[in-house]
Amino acid sequence: MKRQLYTGSNYKKALNIEDLERIAKKRLPNFVFEYVYGGSDDEHTLRHNRAVFDQYLFKPKTMTNVGVRDLSTTLMGGTFQMPLAIGPTGFNGMLTREGDLKLAGAARDAGIPFILSSVSTTRLEDIAAIEGLTAWMQIYFYRDRDFVKSMIRRCAKAGFDAIVVTTDSAIYGNREWDVRNFRRPMKPTLANLLHLLTKPGWMKDVLWPDGLPTFKNLDDLLPPDKRNAQGASQIIGPQLDPSLNWEDIAWLRELWPGKIILKGILAPEEAEHAASLGIDALVLSNHGGRQLNHSLSPMDTLSEVKACVGERCELFVDSGFRRGTDIIKALALGADGVWLGRATLYGLAAGGQAGAAHALALLKKEMESTLGLLGYSRLDELEAGCLRRRTSL
Ligand SMILES: Cc1cc2nc3c(=O)[nH]c(=O)nc-3n(C[C@H](O)[C@H](O)[C@H](O)COP(=O)(O)O)c2cc1C
Repeated sequence: MKRQLYTGSNYKKALNIEDLERIAKKRLPNFVFEYVYGGSDDEHTLRHNRAVFDQYLFKPKTMTNVGVRDLSTTLMGGTFQMPLAIGPTGFNGMLTREGDLKLAGAARDAGIPFILSSVSTTRLEDIAAIEGLTAWMQIYFYRDRDFVKSMIRRCAKAGFDAIVVTTDSAIYGNREWDVRNFRRPMKPTLANLLHLLTKPGWMKDVLWPDGLPTFKNLDDLLPPDKRNAQGASQIIGPQLDPSLNWEDIAWLRELWPGKIILKGILAPEEAEHAASLGIDALVLSNHGGRQLNHSLSPMDTLSEVKACVGERCELFVDSGFRRGTDIIKALALGADGVWLGRATLYGLAAGGQAGAAHALALLKKEMESTLGLLGYSRLDELEAGCLRRRTSL
């Protein structure tokens, strides 16, 4: 029987992340939705990130007394209510006004960390000031290293205790939706501008009265006449430094006394290198299928990476996580936690902070029931033996 889909627009009625995605699609202008949804080239990796979870089947235990299930866990030395974090996504203010603050608020209320993108529309100091929130800061290595240095100093002053370096974006992925939707960076085509007239709610929320939000952390990188969204986007891409290499990480290690997380590693030998340098944690990631198309998914290399690095680095994963079962599978293979990208962005676009909170609540409920149905009460009981990988689909 065909599954019934929710097609309404009330985020509270969404039963799963896919429902939230449909509501987000209705609420956002098409070029904004496609910026969030899209992957690179012909999107093989985007699809693989979902399909890979079907390759793992659960081997449940029964009769194990799962009356109480506990999702709490420790990550990077802190205690959190569940093994999730909201990962870094740029330009959240294009989904809803003050998108970063709303996502951070949802993370704080759910008792999980929030990672701010360096291409955020909120100043990093404003995120660090949110009481009760554990926040980590993501950075890109720009060609202008003095700017990178100044951003790291700002992070230290603001009180962030971890910096996340994205390693898979030294070159910008080929996202064809964005090429089609914009005449020039951030200048939508005429057809897309006309389409905006069908989205008065979004226009009032996001565009009125000042137009598109700006990249609030990048002022020192941008000449004064390029500090608007259009000007900045012409500079940011070319600023990404394709010479990024391990010496840059050693440079950062000298400069930054706090924790370092590398995001974008997939190869076990690179993970081993990172562990030997004393890196605190890795995020196994293919950037949600937005960078190298036909890349492996983190689920393809997680067990091997875990076998290499053991307890030397904490291991996070992201890319394609939309269900509690996906998260439990990754934890069983050795991940310490899962970072969310689009799952909470769809919630944010569908219902603001409450929508993002709804996405987190849905995933929490699914994790709790998956854990129990699998026969476990606590996350640290999970082990690879509870999964079987199919050899063919
Ligand atoms: C709209 C959007 C913006 C993103 N911006 C950033 C960013 O600024 N920095 C970064 O390291 N990753 C960025 N990412 C990648 C996410 O951190 C994450 O790796 C990815 O979304 C995970 O895949 P998922 O969306 O399928 O969960 C972005 C992803 C999306 C969807």
